[in-house]
Amino acid sequence: MNQVDFKKKAAGEKAAEYIQDGMVIGLGSGSTMYWMLKALGQKVREGLSIQGIPSSIKTENWAREFGIPLTNFEKVNRLDLAIDGADEVDPHFNLIKGGGGSLLREKIVDQAADHFIVVVDDSKLVDELGAFPLPVEVVSFGWQLVKYRIEQLGCQAELRKRNGEVFVTNNQNYILDCQFNVIKKPEELHHKLKQMLGVVETGLFFNMTDRVIIGKDNEVKIQE
Ligand code: 5RP
Repeated sequence: MNQVDFKKKAAGEKAAEYIQDGMVIGLGSGSTMYWMLKALGQKVREGLSIQGIPSSIKTENWAREFGIPLTNFEKVNRLDLAIDGADEVDPHFNLIKGGGGSLLREKIVDQAADHFIVVVDDSKLVDELGAFPLPVEVVSFGWQLVKYRIEQLGCQAELRKRNGEVFVTNNQNYILDCQFNVIKKPEELHHKLKQMLGVVETGLFFNMTDRVIIGKDNEVKIQE
């Protein structure tokens, strides 16, 4: 395991300690969450009784593999706690998410929770958001027009592709990765983007995070 994975594992495992009996948990996405899910699966095997709502098909598959009981929004309309990864975290706990393409479901799940914990390795901590290209989920029809309009806000946007194919989200939408370099006002930018027809959701998460668990070289740090 490389050093980054080691840090992700440490952060993910620490987050699992916050899960208590009877909770309904929002299960975020990404490689850091893999370790959280694995640790949670172990706790379930030891008798912890919880239910999870996954924020992506990949997370759902991992949760099933680890024996984590699942529920859905037909049965519950609030969660006790959500745990999720992030691509960037600023000192005000503003986040960029969506590197894995799951930002819409993640936001739905994370916002439904009373408490929200973010798990990252320390490379994700930034002074200002924006070096990581901001993922924006858009409907497939007319994506070129939306790209043009987003670029008028001062970024370079690129249609996400994987292995030469257009990347399609779990919701059958596309992702535009928008290179802003610096995002001075994340909330304002989010609202500008959301006003554009064709934009489904942005990867800017703000006013949501209660706690950030950071995997570092030889320790796990918690910011609240
Ligand atoms: C997926 C996400 C992930 O949480 C984010 O990309 C972090 O992933 P990782 O833990 O693999 O670094 O937002 O849409």
